Amino acid sequence: MKFILLFFSGIVLHLGITPVQALLHRFEVRSSSHTRLCTTKSMLTVNGRFPGPTIYARRGDLVTVDIINLSDQNITIHWHGVKMPRYPWSDGTDYVTHDWSRNSVHGAIVILPPKRETYPFPKPHAHVPIIIEEWWNSKVETIYEKFVSSGTDPDPSNAFLINGQPGDLYPCSKQDTYKLRVEFGKRYLIKLVNTALNSIMFFKIGNHNFTVVGADGAYMKPIQTDYAAIAPGQTLDLLLEANQPPGRYYMAARIYASATTIYSVTIPATAIIEYVGNHAPPLLPSFPEVNDSAASIGFTDKLKSLGNNADVPKRVDETFFYTLPVNAMPCTTCTNSTRLFSSVNNVTMLLPTATDILEAYYRGINGVYTTDFPDFPPSSFNYAYIRYNAAGREWDPIRNRRSCIGV
Ligand SMILES: *[C@@H]1O[C@H](CO)[C@@H](O)[C@H](O)[C@H]1NC(C)=O
Ligand SMILES: *[C@@H]1O[C@H](CO)[C@@H](O)[C@H](O)[C@H]1NC(C)=O
Ligand SMILES: *[C@@H]1O[C@H](CO)[C@@H](O)[C@H](O)[C@H]1NC(C)=O
Ligand SMILES: *[C@@H]1O[C@H](CO)[C@@H](O)[C@H](O)[C@H]1NC(C)=O
Ligand SMILES: *[C@@H]1O[C@H](CO)[C@@H](O)[C@H](O)[C@H]1NC(C)=O
Ligand SMILES: *[C@@H]1O[C@H](CO)[C@@H](O)[C@H](O)[C@H]1NC(C)=O
Repeated sequence: MKFILLFFSGIVLHLGITPVQALLHRFEVRSSSHTRLCTTKSMLTVNGRFPGPTIYARRGDLVTVDIINLSDQNITIHWHGVKMPRYPWSDGTDYVTHDWSRNSVHGAIVILPPKRETYPFPKPHAHVPIIIEEWWNSKVETIYEKFVSSGTDPDPSNAFLINGQPGDLYPCSKQDTYKLRVEFGKRYLIKLVNTALNSIMFFKIGNHNFTVVGADGAYMKPIQTDYAAIAPGQTLDLLLEANQPPGRYYMAARIYASATTIYSVTIPATAIIEYVGNHAPPLLPSFPEVNDSAASIGFTDKLKSLGNNADVPKRVDETFFYTLPVNAMPCTTCTNSTRLFSSVNNVTMLLPTATDILEAYYRGINGVYTTDFPDFPPSSFNYAYIRYNAAGREWDPIRNRRSCIGV
């Protein structure tokens, strides 16, 4: 059984034009051919587009998306940043209901305020979708199969992309670098989306600071900054003033990776911000070091609610403490005789053999969900520390395996 995640994130509105708010969409999920880094491959896309089409709506609109499965696989679709309380049917667990095809099957959702409502920040001249992505020269299905059978880290991607393109630092694709034309004195709302499979990304714009005004579909306390760190599946709204000497500037994205051995490509993906006029080539902004944890965590620490609509329960009845480590389990057919597994409080997931929890919830079947899941890790250890041994990394073995979704 194979499911694929379709991953639609963010909020977008093209430059200067009022978007046509089609509230009925037809998404055909099918294979199409795409070329990057001088390599052509066939991959799963929505309507043959990479990144996929954008959905525009105003808050309060009802949007209908007809998904036509023209692929050879079962598919699911889910919507980051769009809260669907008690509607978990299309969401789920990595590598179970989220497969690797989300690598090429994703797009942005633009949600604008209702007509009579204003923004809690100066009105932008235009909304700009900036989607960070990953490109493998091989088919992701092949990478995934190797990852599962070897039990080790997956092969790293060949490049990160911005709006479908790796940018100027990759000679093969340089001519297709994404360009954003801006006018001096105008304000742009960048809708930043990270669709990378597993990587937190740093994002910078040459010579320009910006203000972070939203995250994951909610406005937030503005943060003035010269960089952002964005997790996979996350969206950020960045207000950019075109207030620098007219010219050409890079916007760039590079991985944050704290491990001592970095397997990933560290060459930034670039796009160009071009002021109206003729200008010299841009300069690359300086990034935090690839392993700068203080910069990555420091950015996330600053994200704070706007406070005017936060409805947070103040009374706590019960406290849970969850650890989310990567463990290893014996595997005779794997490289190094172990397979990587993630766990929650030393419990990892098994594919359900009978009724799974979501199905039990859907059909109102009792006795499938049990309440003995540990509220605390079974033993304490340094939760933020990775042990090293001669072979590289060392993981705790996993004690329990449960058949449930969402762990
Ligand atoms: C699709 O899902 C159905 C129902 O679970 C399953 O029987 C079928 O084998 C799946 N098809 C593929 C191509 O994975
Ligand atoms: C999608 O199409 C494939 C090929 O016909 C089929 O195997 C699969 O079951 C379909 N999935 C769904 C969810 O209809
Ligand atoms: C960006 O902000 C920093 C302080 O955080 C300041 O030193 C710098 O001059 C600003 N850069 C621009 C281009 O405004
Ligand atoms: C980042 O990596 C460099 C080179 O391996 C190392 O010297 C430095 O200590 C690392 N920094 C952090 C914060 O881990
Ligand atoms: C597997 O073993 C090889 C060679 O002994 C080593 O270089 C590599 O780091 C190991 N991989 C893991 C994931 O431990
Ligand atoms: C997980 O369980 C195993 C086996 O019981 C144990 O050796 C290990 O210490 C546990 N790890 C943690 C983090 O509790």
